[in-house]
Amino acid sequence: MTRRSPREFEPEKSRPPALLSVDGLRVSLRSRTRMLPAVQEVSFSMQRGEILALVGESGCGKSLTAQALLGLVGKNSLGQVEGSIRFKDRELTDLSEREMRAIRGREIAWVSQDPMTSLNPVYPVGAQIAEVPWLHQLCRTRNQARGVAERWMDRVGIPDPALRARDYPFAFSGGMRQRLVISMGLSGEPDLIIADEPTTALDVTIQAQILDLLHDLRAQTGCAILLITHDLGVVAQWCDAAMVMYAGRIVEKAPVGELLANPTHPYTQNLLASVPTPGHRRPLQPIPGQAPALEDIPSRGCPFRERCALARAACEVHMPDLVGSAVHRVACWDREVKA
Ligand SMILES: Nc1ncnc2c1ncn2[C@@H]1O[C@H](COP(=O)(O)OP(=O)(O)OP(=O)(O)O)[C@@H](O)[C@H]1O
Ligand SMILES: [Mg+2]
Repeated sequence: MTRRSPREFEPEKSRPPALLSVDGLRVSLRSRTRMLPAVQEVSFSMQRGEILALVGESGCGKSLTAQALLGLVGKNSLGQVEGSIRFKDRELTDLSEREMRAIRGREIAWVSQDPMTSLNPVYPVGAQIAEVPWLHQLCRTRNQARGVAERWMDRVGIPDPALRARDYPFAFSGGMRQRLVISMGLSGEPDLIIADEPTTALDVTIQAQILDLLHDLRAQTGCAILLITHDLGVVAQWCDAAMVMYAGRIVEKAPVGELLANPTHPYTQNLLASVPTPGHRRPLQPIPGQAPALEDIPSRGCPFRERCALARAACEVHMPDLVGSAVHRVACWDREVKA
């Protein structure tokens, strides 16, 4: 079987220029004895207005990928980032910390799992949200910035924003705090929001409200959203396309409908078999074994082979490339996606 590089499948000329283009991203973390590869050969692109999911088991490298995109790894002694991250025609890996600070919050916003990591408990929320348009010089006066903050609080569904702007974070429920963080993210009018498990800490009703909100805001503002989650239900309902990550690598990428209808990598199939599907009563099958810890990721071959029912000799030797059609790609020696 001759394998072609993924690039050969890409009809580049017919596509609008990507908002974000990641090529060969690699994040290594320093251990006492060596650099450990936590994210390897991650390549993908995002269009404006797209909601792309990044899914995978705990510890597979989702947050590190996001942190690398935000320029938060590699600037300290812990990690090292290699590869290319092109965002709106700029190579982010070439930018200084000062230049990245101007992009973070303004052009790429971050919504984390725990709103209290973004909200300062000792300042009123309105002042904190207003800081974003003020620092990024989207307003000429502090008063204008406060007005922008209140408008965003209103848009994300905080009642009485003029009054509530004066309250401190503790006076809001978990769901409301996450709305505040989203309004803070959006008040910089970003082109890309990276939302890292934004609803994991919330109950299902509030989770649905927050994801609905992100979905609506995408429609209103045209921003793209990279949604990190381990919840395939969230992927099915709110995302356009999804990337499945295992042991630091993307093993499958496809539009969501296609991925759910035709999961091709054995890991994706196992993931789907391990969660309930609405309307289907079937026994759930947990994935046998567990994902390798960072220090145990094999230096060659497919890292999923230990848990894979289809593993064969080739899987011990080389990691397969992510190949397939322009829209559906998979990294598995046993699988070929039909164009
Ligand atoms: N600051 C750090 N120092 C040491 N190891 C780290 C650090 N950050 C991440 N790691 C390790 O890198 C690997 C990937 O971590 P990452 O946080 O990206 O996983 P994740 O997919 O986001 O998991 P989760 O779903 O639990 O959030 C893990 O093995 C983790 O222990
Ligand atoms: Mg994480």
